[in-house]
Amino acid sequence: MRIAIPGLNLSMTLTRAPFRFELARPRQLHAGAGSATRQTNYTGDGLTVESRILDALQSDRFTSAYSAGIQTPHKIGVGGDLRIHWRVYTCLWAAEHALSLPGDFVECGVNTGIISRAICDYVNFASVPKQFFLFDTFAGIPESQAAPDEREHVRSKNARIYRDCYEDTKRTFAPFPNVRLVRGMVPDTLAAQPIEKVSYLSIDMNLVFPEIAALEFFWDRLVPGGIVVLDDYAFAGHRHQHEAVDAFALRRNVPVYTSPTGQGLILRPPS
Ligand SMILES: C[S@@+](CC[C@H](N)C(=O)[O-])C[C@H]1O[C@@H](n2cnc3c(N)ncnc32)[C@H](O)[C@@H]1O
Repeated sequence: MRIAIPGLNLSMTLTRAPFRFELARPRQLHAGAGSATRQTNYTGDGLTVESRILDALQSDRFTSAYSAGIQTPHKIGVGGDLRIHWRVYTCLWAAEHALSLPGDFVECGVNTGIISRAICDYVNFASVPKQFFLFDTFAGIPESQAAPDEREHVRSKNARIYRDCYEDTKRTFAPFPNVRLVRGMVPDTLAAQPIEKVSYLSIDMNLVFPEIAALEFFWDRLVPGGIVVLDDYAFAGHRHQHEAVDAFALRRNVPVYTSPTGQGLILRPPS
């Protein structure tokens, strides 16, 4: 449509902009399966996806779980909705897969629990005969574990994002008696917990040393088919983690899947 602006020697052409499914908009978030408003594009968290069936990210079940996680009182970014739907969805899928396997759930790097709280909602974890172990300092990344070239990044993250969130996170998981918060530094805190088998392992500590230590610690406890989600694996600013995980994978002779979300996925093969 062409519009002339009176009094000015100006006119402009209005075109219909290509419609983007921005999942953060509530009216779109609640588009149910079968709805005429079902969307096929998605933009968020560095991803642009077009012409795909996105029912899984528009279901009421997903929406409820995503909201439960993203509403935890985190200070990542500017707080609020980080638009990380696809990353959360990957973890929900991995956790649901792990439900049918023997073994507990573990997350190393929890902060306020965006991802784990979403999982608890999605799979109704209170009714699941497993434990969910959540390991964190609940007070930020230990600078003492940072290599010299990680220090600046750790300082900056601790200053901007992390605070003591233990009490908040305890409240967040209070409805789930089978979720255990384990406060302290990974890997020091791992061995004291009664974890024999693991089916779902999420690692998100933004630091090489504890991430590889956790991978080493849990690898032999992962059951065949057990899944590892590495949150930072393919983020451009996290090359140290990427290379350390690749070296781990090479030692164990397993491939790492690079997801466009930035996550890395490893499946535990039958031994
Ligand atoms: C990006 S946040 C985790 C976000 C979380 N996965 C979520 O879903 O909201 C990283 C967390 O790792 C924790 N962390 C980093 N290094 C750690 C270590 N060695 N031991 C325990 N926690 C650690 C920090 O305290 C911080 O809370």
